[in-house]
Amino acid sequence: MTAIPAEAAAGRLMRREIEEQPEVVARLCDREGPAIAALGRRLRRRAPETIVLAARGTSDNAALYGRYLIETLLGIPVSLAAPSVLTVYRARLRLRRSLVIGLSQSGASPDIVEFVETARRYGARTIAVTNDAGSALSRAAHDTALLLTGRERSVAATKTYTAQLTVLSLFVAAASGRRRLTDAHADLPGCMARTFEADGRIRDIAHHWRRIDECLVTSRGYDYATAREAALKLKETCYLVAEPVSAADLLHGPIAVVDEGFPVLLIAPPGAVLPHLAALASRLRRRRAGTLIVSSDAAILRQADIPLAMPAVPDERLSPHVYVLPLQLLAYHLSRIRGHDPDHPRGLHKITRAR
Ligand code: F6R
Repeated sequence: MTAIPAEAAAGRLMRREIEEQPEVVARLCDREGPAIAALGRRLRRRAPETIVLAARGTSDNAALYGRYLIETLLGIPVSLAAPSVLTVYRARLRLRRSLVIGLSQSGASPDIVEFVETARRYGARTIAVTNDAGSALSRAAHDTALLLTGRERSVAATKTYTAQLTVLSLFVAAASGRRRLTDAHADLPGCMARTFEADGRIRDIAHHWRRIDECLVTSRGYDYATAREAALKLKETCYLVAEPVSAADLLHGPIAVVDEGFPVLLIAPPGAVLPHLAALASRLRRRRAGTLIVSSDAAILRQADIPLAMPAVPDERLSPHVYVLPLQLLAYHLSRIRGHDPDHPRGLHKITRAR
């Protein structure tokens, strides 16, 4: 038997799991969709005053998306938990009229488990969003929504991220009674799969960026989460100083770091934030930045130094599920081109043990 050469094997787990995502999302909608919708309808009947989302790392980026979606569609204020407030400072949070959702693909991040356990003791209703039905997080919470991705073997999380986004979008669609949003999930797997047609182009872009030491990653609205997650993947697997920044914040000050050729990754799906992102794109163009723009909008793509065309997404509120895929692929290719193995990232463990 011929052994697979080491270079060919580098990143094969990450690659396989990136490619699995359309199937993962289809399976999740199919098998877990009804249970998630039931949780959403219950929220509709008895709305909490606030919702707290507790998560770390990639799961926390999914939570950020959840915050935008819950606040825009349900009008319920959301906070992203600072777990240390409970687990280190031992604060007594008033959570009796809150819903606390713990997101952890492993269900084993100790401070997320402790946060949910403590919140439940303080009277919060609790939900676990996890890939492991038998996990400590699932045992800690009243209810569990499963990701059903199969085991995630890549250390850098990919498929569990899009599964978490999907749990959140199905949940909020049901809780807000937005039937069209629920139905739009049916078109997601096909749309996600179409992004892989750009794989060769993404490899070429990675080649173009192979020597950069730093970049900014920006967007606004729902895809601010995508910017944070893309930056995290670029840091973890390519050892690149990738700084995520909201497009609104970037314009007021930090744009000062951008001069000629400075790499900026701008995630710009059509929707309510596109005019703001187009204004940023033209500012970046005037500064002669090296802007990589990811979009399905022809006009904004014309502002790019490096355009990456995307398929149209069925609903702008589902764009994060699709726009993260080419950026996971970018991290995968760039890591390999720079001589690393994204399956063995040097600083990353599967579970964040914050203490
Ligand atoms: C990123 C990554 C980590 C995890 C974090 C949370 O690629 O894998 O940042 O997202 O350790 O892990 P879970 O979701 O298991 O709590």
